[in-house]
Amino acid sequence: MTQLSAARGSDSSKALYGGKGTRRITVRDITAAKQRGEKWPMLTAYDAMTASVFDEAGIPVMLVGDSMGNCHLGYDTTVPVTLDEMTLLSAAVVRGTSRALIVGDLPFGTYQEGPAQALRSAMRLVKDAGVGAVKLEGGERSHEQIELLVQAGIPVMAHIGLTPQSVNTMGYRVQGRGEEAAQQLLRDAKAVQDAGAFAVVLELVPAELAAEVTRVLHIPTVGIGAGPDCDAQVLVWTDMLGLTGGKLPRFVKQYANLREVMSNAVKSFADDVVGGSYPLEEHSVH
Ligand code: KIV
Repeated sequence: MTQLSAARGSDSSKALYGGKGTRRITVRDITAAKQRGEKWPMLTAYDAMTASVFDEAGIPVMLVGDSMGNCHLGYDTTVPVTLDEMTLLSAAVVRGTSRALIVGDLPFGTYQEGPAQALRSAMRLVKDAGVGAVKLEGGERSHEQIELLVQAGIPVMAHIGLTPQSVNTMGYRVQGRGEEAAQQLLRDAKAVQDAGAFAVVLELVPAELAAEVTRVLHIPTVGIGAGPDCDAQVLVWTDMLGLTGGKLPRFVKQYANLREVMSNAVKSFADDVVGGSYPLEEHSVH
């Protein structure tokens, strides 16, 4: 196969998940997947080693989400996350992966002032961290920011419905319930598509409304708590692998219990040390 045909991929290497391509996935591949009607998974990632596991497992898109605030940095919300923190962890995730498209989240306060501020912040993630796209929250209210970033050559994933950076005004409530709110969500979805976003996250909206948005848009929808009809689904990795402590949102399916696995392993190590059964001869040098 020539380099060019390898880059384009044969039929069997096209699929975002389960495909055989080894080059990094781009937003053009995401657009093509929507045209093929293909569904795909997305996970958050905040460090190189975890990201490398997801990359090897074939996860095609990883979001260095500002959920790092709650899930990695010990903040109560996503609000305090800074652009420095996002740049540092995004760069680690890029280094840990070779195939996935890495999307860096623009933290609260790094794009709300207007398009120029958004461009400065996004440039930092693209140039210093090496992400392939950025994500920002807001529909109609963020369309000017999206437009300028896309004009500058930076792919944008939008995020509407529940937008956690607005927790202080919005809370963590289902969005788009009732006729007026549903119409607003549809307007937001069309606004980000018209502004040039390549995909849109729909967070915590009724499944029927998410299905309608997915049908109406030509860009893919990425659901989280938005029912089964979105083009893609995203979960916060610490939630889906059972590392997050406490109560999880209803939409999370937990695929492992890493908290228990890690806790048991750590206790075994501590017991071995206290009881003198670690280290043994085989762990020692002479
Ligand atoms: O920050 C994040 O992890 C997110 C996802 C929940 C979509 O925005």
